[in-house]
Amino acid sequence: MFIQNAWYAGAWAHELTKDGVLPRKILSKSLLFFRTSSGEVTALRDRCSHRFAPLSAGRREGDCIRCMYHGLVFDKDGKCVEEPGRKGVSPNTSVPAYPTVERHKLVWVWMGDADKADLDLIPDCHHHVDPSWRSIPRYAHFKANYLLVLDNLLDFSHLSFVHEKTLGGSKSIAEIRPKVEKTEKGVQLTRWYLNEPAFAPYLRGYERFDGAIDRWNIYHLSTLSNHFSMSAGSAPAGTGAPDGTLHPQTMQFHSHQVITPEDENGTHYFWTYGHNFALDDARFTEALAERISAGFKEDRTMIEAQRAVIEESEGEDIEMAFILADNGLALGRRLIDERLAEESKTTAAHMEPAE
Ligand code: FES
Ligand SMILES: [Fe+2]
Repeated sequence: MFIQNAWYAGAWAHELTKDGVLPRKILSKSLLFFRTSSGEVTALRDRCSHRFAPLSAGRREGDCIRCMYHGLVFDKDGKCVEEPGRKGVSPNTSVPAYPTVERHKLVWVWMGDADKADLDLIPDCHHHVDPSWRSIPRYAHFKANYLLVLDNLLDFSHLSFVHEKTLGGSKSIAEIRPKVEKTEKGVQLTRWYLNEPAFAPYLRGYERFDGAIDRWNIYHLSTLSNHFSMSAGSAPAGTGAPDGTLHPQTMQFHSHQVITPEDENGTHYFWTYGHNFALDDARFTEALAERISAGFKEDRTMIEAQRAVIEESEGEDIEMAFILADNGLALGRRLIDERLAEESKTTAAHMEPAE
């Protein structure tokens, strides 16, 4: 089950070229993304209306797609505009098109009720286009349900163990209880690690100062679009970072991570890890992306292995134990359950026969 009425990241903008097509499954529906000659982005159901051949096996003809089974042609809105051998087209030959918007280097798609596709609900990823930040768009695929990925993001105690030699490097991450708050759209977590003796391993070789460090991870996870937005940083210890004073040598980061369900067993992971210092050091931007990527591969290995054990346990009368670190993920799961229940109520109300 997925929340339908939300904007989901479907692609990075650079993945859609002017003459190509990008097939990608979102919320268990196969879609076909493409970009028209005027630069507009669109997403159609990847299913020809005729005999259900995939349109992704078709070919671009200008701003249209021709199904390469029997030749129907569809425009960017999914309307069938040509049927070989007849004037005009047969009835009911259109394919569904989904509201699609390019913003902040991502292509967002709305899978629910098109009337509810409010542009103001698109998550704010402005760091991707802000000249005072640098980041590289990255994508990963996890063979696991998206909820396991959200659980992972809502409990950073795993940094001490899964990412011992990459993103973590300190056992205080698991020992410190974060502040967990419910917000209008999701969950906010705040974690400070004061007076740490060493930088996180992913920053080694790029340290901007010597001595002890005040580190932080402050992030919000919107349970509507599964958008994770995190401020992270390392400042010389005792220089006032927890009160908002940033020493000039502070290393500040902002990460956006957008988790889009592919289907019940697959997840698309769009992410960046931006920095607002060393702006002219492209090698640092690249190294940062590579090192964070190595960390996310560790997450993937753990989550995919966890998924296999969960599957093996299905049908057994056993529940996962709840531990102190689970506050954030429990709140996230509750918010998602509430929204799913809300959507199913609305759908059920729609289906009630008129009096
Ligand atoms: S299946 Fe597409 S034209 Fe027949
Ligand atoms: Fe992780």
